[in-house]
Parts: sequence; C-alpha cells; structure tokens
Amino acid sequence: ALGLLYDQDLEGERYVISAGGTREPIDPVRFLGNRSTGRFGVALALAAAHRGADVDLVACNVDAALLPHHPRITIHAAGTALELRERMLGLAPCAQVLIMTAAVADFRPATTTDSKVKKGGSVPDFELVENPDILKGLAADRSHGAFVVGFAAETGDEGGSVLDYGRAKARAKGADLLVVNRVGETAGFGDVDTAITILDSAGETRSDAAGTKSQMAGVVIDTISSARKGV
Ligand code: CTP
Ligand code: CA
Repeated sequence: ALGLLYDQDLEGERYVISAGGTREPIDPVRFLGNRSTGRFGVALALAAAHRGADVDLVACNVDAALLPHHPRITIHAAGTALELRERMLGLAPCAQVLIMTAAVADFRPATTTDSKVKKGGSVPDFELVENPDILKGLAADRSHGAFVVGFAAETGDEGGSVLDYGRAKARAKGADLLVVNRVGETAGFGDVDTAITILDSAGETRSDAAGTKSQMAGVVIDTISSARKGV
C-alpha cells in the first residue's frame, strides 16, 4: 500500500543494481578490499522499487543491516569482481536498466593460497592481476539491450577538476550515463551529503544536483528515465 504514495512510473521495468565493494581473497582469512558501504546502491534500489520497478540488487559485501527489505527487491550476493561480473552478465538479458554503483577492486591477487599466509619467513610479495572492467564490458556488448549506468567518485587535483576527470571517464567507459559523485564538495551542508553531476557518453552534463542520498537516487532515476525517452 505504501508503494501507492509514489508515482508507479517504473512499473514493468527491471533494474539490476550492483552495490558495495568487491573483496579479492589473498588467503582464507584475508582480502584486498575497499571502504564502499553500498549505501547509494541501496538508496537507488529502494527509489526504483518504490516507483514500481522490480529490482535485482547485487550486493557485494554489504552489511546485512543496510540491506533493504522490499517485496520488489531481490538480493543477490557477489564477493569478488569475477563473481560480480558473472551475476551482472547473468541478470543483464532480463533488465531494462543496469547500474554499477559497486566499487570494483581494480586488481586481485594472481593466486590465492589454500592455507593462511604465515609470518616469520620473508615478507610476502603479492603479484596482482587486473580485474575485468565490468561496466565497460556491459557498455561495449549491447546484446542484453539494457540501458547502462556507471558511477565514479572523483576529486579534483592540480591535473584537472572533478568534471574534467568525470568527462574523460564518461567517454572512456561508453556507458549511457555516468553519475559523478563530487567528493568533498558538500562539507558543511548538514543533511546535504551528496553532490552529483550526471554525464552522458559524450561527456555532456545531463543533471547537476546536491542533497541527501535518497534525493540524489531520485535525480538519478529521473535522469535515466528522461535519457531513455530521448529527452
Ligand atoms: N568498474 C567496473 N569494473 C572495474 C572497475 C570499475 O565495472 N573493474 C565500474 C564501477 O562500478 C563504476 C565505474 O566503473 O561504475 C567507475 O569506476 P572507477 O573506479 O571510478 O573507474 P576506473 O575505470 O576503475 O578508473 P580509476 O579507478 O583508475 O579512476
Ligand atoms: Ca577503479
């Protein structure tokens, strides 16, 4: 019944959303990981579900307490980048929209040992290999037919502004939209905790907004809907 408080404009649509961060095993007890909590992906999943979409949320090491409970959201688990890619490729053919909010480890240990790495000998020298770029792959092979959205958390530096880096990444990825999280631009705005610029594959700005994560989730979904309608 609560769902009826929202416009059901996404009824009949399937969104596949990755969230959290991958963990790449070193040995049975250790991994290479990152600090991504999955909050934005969860906010997007809820925003889409409230508007009537069916959502597959591919959760990568998301704290159980953060996972949403909603009849339209199905939660799938993925641990590593390779597992996440399998999940995304498996779900993609049924989706109208694919959103990669997960922080994917760029590298993984080349080998994983079956027993715990012990100290006392020489300091281990881990060899790393690059993980596949899941977003780029989903954008390059369109046999799934879905609209593809990526995320990037960027900061500016002496080499360029947040937007310079965002535009370059948008063009390089080939996703239909890239949501650039302008990290560190909202300090002091209280509840306003996220500033985003949404770029298309040409690097042109489609939306620019700041607010709470759930407000920004709404902006992302509105921008996806407009872009899919060609406006
Ligand atoms: N991504 C992905 N697979 C990877 C790395 C990133 O699908 N192996 C996706 C992320 O889910 C995100 C987008 O690509 O949607 C941007 O991630 P980001 O880490 O900002 O971009 P990279 O291409 O990895 O560039 P870098 O980390 O060097 O800035
Ligand atoms: Ca990266």
